[in-house]
Amino acid sequence: MFKVNENYLKLPGSYLFSTIGKKVAAYTAAHPEKEIIRLGIGDVTQPLAPAIIEAMHKAVDEMACKETFKGYAPDLGYEFLRSAIAKNDYQDRGCDIAADEIFVSDGAKCDCSNIQEIFSADCRIAVCDPVYPVYVDSNVMAGRAGEYNTVTEMFSNVIYMPCTEGNNFSPEFPKENPDLIYLCYPNNPTGATITKDELQGWVDYANKIGAVILYDAAYEAYISEADVPHSIYECEGARTCAIEMRSFSKNAGFTGVRLGFTVVPKELKDADGVALHGLWARRHGTKYNGAPYIIQKAGEAVYSEAGKAQLKEQVAYYMNNAKVIYDGLKEAGFSVSGGVNAPYIWLKTPGNMTSWEFFDHLLEDVNVVGTPGSGFGPSGEGYFRLTAFGTYENTVKAVERMKTLL
Ligand code: MLT
Repeated sequence: MFKVNENYLKLPGSYLFSTIGKKVAAYTAAHPEKEIIRLGIGDVTQPLAPAIIEAMHKAVDEMACKETFKGYAPDLGYEFLRSAIAKNDYQDRGCDIAADEIFVSDGAKCDCSNIQEIFSADCRIAVCDPVYPVYVDSNVMAGRAGEYNTVTEMFSNVIYMPCTEGNNFSPEFPKENPDLIYLCYPNNPTGATITKDELQGWVDYANKIGAVILYDAAYEAYISEADVPHSIYECEGARTCAIEMRSFSKNAGFTGVRLGFTVVPKELKDADGVALHGLWARRHGTKYNGAPYIIQKAGEAVYSEAGKAQLKEQVAYYMNNAKVIYDGLKEAGFSVSGGVNAPYIWLKTPGNMTSWEFFDHLLEDVNVVGTPGSGFGPSGEGYFRLTAFGTYENTVKAVERMKTLL
């Protein structure tokens, strides 16, 4: 009789956002008359920008014509998109990244979870705590995370780096040396950022101990302060120690469209001199047939002059929501952080409630959905995340409802 991959059995319960989805669905079924406001999962609500829609229409028309029809996309991405990314996201910011170091995919979530495949099974991983659950869960599936301790809610082989109010939600270097370090800035879930000097510290540390930083920059478009780096490649030495992952979901509203990319510099090599660039290309070629042409054309439009202007407005819209949440809750007496360079607000649960107690309280008493901090890791207990990706009207309404809780 066949056996399943036992590593999957070590995962606690269902995936965080699936659990939330199920709870909300059950509540809605029992109370169909209630108007629920969803500020849980970081899903966008604004329609795709006109420049993107126009590019997609044009690409659809090309697919209808014998001369311009496209079949399989190149597995690493179309040249037109890889060049646009290299120029706009990197070279224009002074980062030395070439188009052929960019691997286009169907989203950063897949890349974040798949990238661990190219590393040895005994690599030690370090993650911020709280953390986007995908990093840990994908390493659990690969058998790299060790055993789950139900008391501490931690995996034995994972190095957790607590991010608390005490350290301004910014991790310290771990006591034991990791091989792979996951960093996400601007941070999901806390909304915290680090300065360029602080990120340089991580790059120097990784180069010194021979580790790789897996840098998730999905929320880069939300940076508003000058000393916050947009890419890890702004730091000297990052080409020999860092892989960066980006998404079109948050900066361009592609959550339902799917597009992302990963940067693997050619200098990045393991202890035996094996280049990760070649391994990731090999993986892509074997397991992936490339993001669709129509979607990559939509991605190219993100970098057009019209696209840039329209998306700037979209980001400003969501950041206005972030301000509405931050200011409104602070004024009401909540303890809040984040929301300045990120579309997430991180708040302390009132009255020493656990994160899930507050989730239930919010859902049942004011019909607002958020994300319990403990779902992101043990240091998230007693915290709660709200997203700024709702509509303005719903965001205002949610804040007014939450004010009645204190
Ligand atoms: C989140 O809510 O943390 C994100 O939207 C999830 C994701 O991007 O996969």
